[in-house]
Amino acid sequence: MRVLIVGSGAREHALASGLRSCDVIVTPGNAATPTPSVPVRADDLDGLVNLALKERVDLVVVGPEVPLVLGLVDRLEDAGIKAFGPTRAAARLEGSKAFMKHFCATHGIATSPFAVFDDADRASAYIEKERRPLVVKADGLAAGKGVVVAQTSAEALWAVDQIMRARVFGAAGDAVVIEDVLGGEEASFHVICDGERAFPLAAAQDHKRVGDGDRGPNTGGMGAYAPAPVVTDEIASKVMERVVGPTLRGMAQMGAPFRGVLFVGLMIEHGEPRVLEFNVRFGDPETSVIVPLVRLAGPGLLEVLDAAARGKLSELRAPTWNAWNGAAMAVVMAADGYPGAPRLGDRIRGLDASLEPGAFVFHAGTKRLADGAVVTAGGRVLAVGGLGATLGEAHRIAYGAVGAIHWDGEHHRSDIGHRALVRGGA
Ligand code: GLY
Repeated sequence: MRVLIVGSGAREHALASGLRSCDVIVTPGNAATPTPSVPVRADDLDGLVNLALKERVDLVVVGPEVPLVLGLVDRLEDAGIKAFGPTRAAARLEGSKAFMKHFCATHGIATSPFAVFDDADRASAYIEKERRPLVVKADGLAAGKGVVVAQTSAEALWAVDQIMRARVFGAAGDAVVIEDVLGGEEASFHVICDGERAFPLAAAQDHKRVGDGDRGPNTGGMGAYAPAPVVTDEIASKVMERVVGPTLRGMAQMGAPFRGVLFVGLMIEHGEPRVLEFNVRFGDPETSVIVPLVRLAGPGLLEVLDAAARGKLSELRAPTWNAWNGAAMAVVMAADGYPGAPRLGDRIRGLDASLEPGAFVFHAGTKRLADGAVVTAGGRVLAVGGLGATLGEAHRIAYGAVGAIHWDGEHHRSDIGHRALVRGGA
């Protein structure tokens, strides 16, 4: 089977590694992925449809949210090309925070109390009246930067100014969602969906802050591990029954059945899961730890993605919760300056070092020069990890591999998995 993966991060490299039994191309890709001779950007819908036709691919797997929200899957289906990912209408679960909150309220899905404003003065007046910590979210996509957790009213008012008056995210700031701050522990819960049924993957936990001890500015994610012990069998069952089931039924009732991967961002407190956000694509870095575990758990990644794209997950047996008899951890190695403007062009050394069995290196912001050298080409450069029998073993293998790779200005967190390891996950 010939598969085109859209995207250029560690997520897409991990997906390509999980599909290595196929003939895979990745666009625009990175230094480690097989790319077409003329790479096409992930937001160039015409270019992507033409590339899929020219390359005669059997399946397109869409990595990032932007092409999904723009309607790439609809365009591919119109051209007769099978695609894994939601249609534009179904992608509103991530593309509009206001849609997502109203959807949860309509279908009884637990999330934080909220209000939606399309007028900046009304949003500001609401904040002045409430005078408590609040979360302010741009309605549309904002490259992961449109959420401000405001401890004070001044911070919340500043967020409304930035999003709605200065319009730093453009049309994504036509409206804001203002919601209560939830307490608890976060987890990333992914299910593969075919419009009616859902196939759960190992629950993961990401580390969003740049520094050890969850300090410093937010990033796209500095490391992840799975399975995350905070998602017990009981929590997983609650999420399937109270979140995933109603979401699939609700979207189908709206005429927008959800096919693709639904990434439920959870906050878990006192044994109760609530939905922080929906994403309609795989998480990054979560995919770097989920894909290696899929291989241990039954049907291969290709079978699962292909069956979902055809609306036929019923052909497969879903894994039971104890199917994940292993653990994976990934540590993001980042470029100097990240999460601000990263320095590009630093030569990466150690990529050819021989690694321990179980170690893996997924490329993200990398580029290969004409002389064969691989250099930094983005903020998050590599996701380096380990697969082991236990989380402790995965941790040891992952950090062993991180220690073999260097470049000027490289930085990473040294405490990925700290919550689970403290709980005794080793
Ligand atoms: N790791 C969080 C995300 O992919 O949105």
